[in-house]
Amino acid sequence: MIPRRILITGAGSGIGAELSALFAAEGHELIVTDVDGAAALRVVDAIVAAGGNAVGYALDVTQASAAETAVRAAGRVDVLVNNAGLQHVARLEEFPADRWAFLIAVMLTGAANMARAALPGMRARNFGRIVNIGSIHSLVASPYKSAYIAAKHGLIGLSKTLALENGDVDITVNTICPVYVRTPLVERQIEAQAREHGLSAERVVNEIMLKPMPKKAFVTVAEIAALAGYLMSDAARNVTAQAIAIDGGWTAQ
Ligand SMILES: NC(=O)c1ccc[n+]([C@@H]2O[C@H](COP(=O)([O-])OP(=O)(O)OC[C@H]3O[C@@H](n4cnc5c(N)ncnc54)[C@H](O)[C@@H]3O)[C@@H](O)[C@H]2O)c1
Repeated sequence: MIPRRILITGAGSGIGAELSALFAAEGHELIVTDVDGAAALRVVDAIVAAGGNAVGYALDVTQASAAETAVRAAGRVDVLVNNAGLQHVARLEEFPADRWAFLIAVMLTGAANMARAALPGMRARNFGRIVNIGSIHSLVASPYKSAYIAAKHGLIGLSKTLALENGDVDITVNTICPVYVRTPLVERQIEAQAREHGLSAERVVNEIMLKPMPKKAFVTVAEIAALAGYLMSDAARNVTAQAIAIDGGWTAQ
């Protein structure tokens, strides 16, 4: 395993925080960023206390200039993990327009902002891996999540385009599409869906979330880290422009 310098967005919580810790434990250098700078620094402190190598910054991915500043401060970024995200659950007619635009700004435009900042250095060094954290909702839809699903479908289009634009160098751009991982984002969704459907939290988990999955199990961050680890390896240099599902069989149906 070649140690990489990895910048992760939205890494103050959930998948990003756990991915950072797992990568650091494997000997990679982490640049932990989040709009909540204090949360990013707590993740850094835990990594350093465990003997890992990490620095952290506040970074709002919706701000193109902040993305440029963060990448410049990082010095070198071998791997960019576009992970920052949020959910809002409502029918489109009841979905506040500014909230809708904000989800797109974070999960689609934010990923483009980060890639725009990181790509020149990757191209100059002839190496780069961009790993986008998409979702099963990059591939299929569910009701009440129009902004999230539009952003996550769009992320695949962005990934494919950037893969083509950088096919001339050792840069790959891929999207990992997991089903549900039990993070604060999903805990909030369970509560919101329970309200929307008038069900208990347990019924939302069993009858809505896990129902379309033949495997009937939440995905763990370790599973996502293992796939991301492969994508950032030299062996994966020809795996590009792909949307790779960790979906317990959902999309086979
Ligand atoms: N949890 C799941 O089941 C699941 C499944 C598939 C995909 N995902 C995706 O994984 C990613 C991480 O989700 P999570 O479940 O860990 O959520 P989470 O809420 O635990 O963490 C998301 C992080 O993103 C940060 N963030 C929000 N807006 C930001 C911005 N403008 N700039 C920078 N950071 C910002 C938040 O502060 C938070 O720390 C998201 O892109 C999400 O869509 C999650």
